Formats: sequence, structure tokens, C-alpha cells
Amino acid sequence: MALRLDPLAHLASELDSLKHQGLYRRLRILEGEQSHKTTFDHREVVNLSSNNYLGLTTHPKLRERALEAIRQLGVGSGSVRSIAGTMAIHMELERRLAAFKKTEAVVVFQSGFAANAGTVAAVLTKEDVVVSDELNHASIIDGARLSRATIKVFPHKDAGAARKIVKELPAGQRKLLITDGVFSMDGDLGALPELCAVAEEFGCIMMVDDAHASGVFGAHGSGTVDHFGMHGRVDIQVGTLSKALGALGGYVAGSRTLIEFLYHRARPFLFSTSHPPAVAAACIAALDVLEEDPTIIDRLWNNTRFFKAGLSALGFNTGLSESPITPVIIGDGALAMKLSDRLFEEGVFAQGIAFPTVARDKARVRTIVTATHTRDELQFALDVFGKVGRELGIIA
Ligand SMILES: Cc1ncc(COP(=O)(O)O)c(C=O)c1O
Repeated sequence: MALRLDPLAHLASELDSLKHQGLYRRLRILEGEQSHKTTFDHREVVNLSSNNYLGLTTHPKLRERALEAIRQLGVGSGSVRSIAGTMAIHMELERRLAAFKKTEAVVVFQSGFAANAGTVAAVLTKEDVVVSDELNHASIIDGARLSRATIKVFPHKDAGAARKIVKELPAGQRKLLITDGVFSMDGDLGALPELCAVAEEFGCIMMVDDAHASGVFGAHGSGTVDHFGMHGRVDIQVGTLSKALGALGGYVAGSRTLIEFLYHRARPFLFSTSHPPAVAAACIAALDVLEEDPTIIDRLWNNTRFFKAGLSALGFNTGLSESPITPVIIGDGALAMKLSDRLFEEGVFAQGIAFPTVARDKARVRTIVTATHTRDELQFALDVFGKVGRELGIIA
């Protein structure tokens, strides 16, 4: 038999090239809980890398409700939603989310990724157009590709450019105008009010992905639509249950018609098993916490202001962030990874992020503070940033 050549050899050479560029990442292994100070790779670190904005991953109420659901309902749903996997607790979560978002209805998906990709792919056809911010999340881009609609990209936050694109399209053509609510790598807010105005002028469907805004912006953390006072002007709102809400999942909030349509046409809803009941129970408990304890969001913002001010005072370039996501922009990919590694050795975990997640010359270390970090932990992290930043010649 002839020697078989490895048909996957190109993958090994791509990995080698990442190693040569200093961009190869070993996965960091979390040995304890996902919390503000924890152990990764046998080292105790102040954790500035999670999306656990409110510390709900370890909240006693969420744990208790999840355990109760396991005892009463078991560990799995056993089916996709559209066959036998719609449990009463899924419907309860959807009702609670609709009240939280002040929309007619909500459908829950297995993840925020599935919510975005499944929805964009379902509502558009190849005759339609998606008009999308250049920094929108990968799940939006994938949904747009799956829909086979024409994809038009406007420069980041440039609603004027979006308007120009939309204006040149035939009036009868269906158009979806879409932005992230909070951009996950830069922490800035989408141009939602301006884009809503464009959508209204030209009759576009308006959609926002509030993955990083859920639990962070708006009353009780209900998102950027509430933050900007845009209720009734956004047709499709996506949110996530995996970040500030501490568990797992994504959802789409909108009209009853939209949600009924997605029940029938969104492929992750039709072809992938629904959440275990414990996840739905934990998400309902998270909504209870948001309603009952508004101080938790105040603590997140107090910590955010403190930490951002500290990084700027040290002389780091923190970009244009308006949220608890604060990038420390370095430029060179290898240097950003070096900074992240040295911070880790000194007891601070802030992930380095390089191409293709961000542009080649915009590599960074991304920090996210949470409501549960103590001031001492944040001050420690700032001291370490100062020391390592000077050591690597990033700050003076
Ligand atoms: C902007 C944005 N949208 C959607 C998602 C996907 O959410 P999830 O992690 O729940 O799949 C993410 C998370 O990575 C995100 O940053």
C-alpha cells in the first residue's frame, strides 16, 4: 500500500507559523471557580479575563436553583425545542426575559452565537442585504454568510456611511441594519440612536447584539435599547445569558410574530438540543438577582471607573472604551502576548488578543473588571500593569 500523505498537513504548517510569530496560544486551565481571584495553571491570579461581569457564575441563589432543578427535573432536556425538548422552565425563562426586555416575546437559544447566527440566517434570503458594522461579532458575520444575503460593511460606528450604503440600494429590497450594542474587543458602544434613525428613514429591519450589554447597561441591566431610550425602535434584540447573567445561552427579543417565525425557521432551535433545566433555572435566578439587587450593577460601574482611571494614569492607551471592557492597546501581536504572559507570571490574568480576532496592528491585552473584584485586587493589578508595562517599554 502506498504511504498515505497526511491530508491535514496544512494545519500543522499553519500552527508552526503561529509559533514563529509568537502568536501560538496554549489554553489556560481554570482549576477553581470562575471568579475574580482564582487559580489558572496552578497560579493564583486576579482574573481580568472573564465576562462574569456581576460575579453570578458563583452566586448562591443561582447554584441553589440549578441544583433544585436537577433534583426535580434531571440533567438534560432530551430533545430539540421543536420536538420534545420544550420544558415548562424554558417557557418560564422566555416569559421572564420578555418582561425584562419589555418586548412581546423572547426565544432562548443554546448560546448567544446560535441566537445571532440562527436569527440572521433565518430572517434573510439571498435577495436581501445585510448592512453591518465592520467590528460586529463573528456570529453575525456567520449568520449573514449562511443567509446568502449580500453583505455590505460600514466603517466602525459610522452611521453616515451606513446611510449612504442603504440609500443606494433599491427601495424595494429588504435590508437588515445591524450593530453590536457593546463591541467586545474595544468596549465602545454601537451607534444605536443614529442607526435607528437610518433604519426608520429607509424602512430597514434594525437589529442589535447586546451580548456584552446584558446585565451591564440600561435599567436593571436590560441593555442598550433601554440605555439609549430606543424602546420600540429596534426590531430584533439579541442578548446573552453566558456573560453577566453567569450561566449559558442566548436569546432574541422582539415581536410575537418574529419569535413564532424563529420557532419555525431558526436552525439552532430546530436542530440542536435545548438547555438542561438547571441552566434555565440558573438564568431565571439571575433575573431575580438583577431585579432585587440593583447595587450589584453599581458595584460593577464603580470598579470600572476606578480601574480605567488607573490604567490611563499609568499612561496606557485604553482606546475609546465606554464599558467594563478596557483594552490596553499595544499594536504588535507578539508584544501584546508578552505583556499578557508577564502579567500572568506576576499574578494578573489579562488575555492577549491578536489577529485574526483584531486587526494585525491593533493587538492588545483585554481587561474586564467585575462587580466582585475588591479595591485591593484592582490596585494590585494596576501596580503589576505599571511594573510590567515599564519593564517592556510600553509606558515610561
Ligand atoms: C458581541 C458578542 N456577540 C455574541 C457573542 C456570543 O455569545 P455566547 O458566548 O453566549 O455564545 C459574544 C461572545 O463571545 C460576543 O462577544
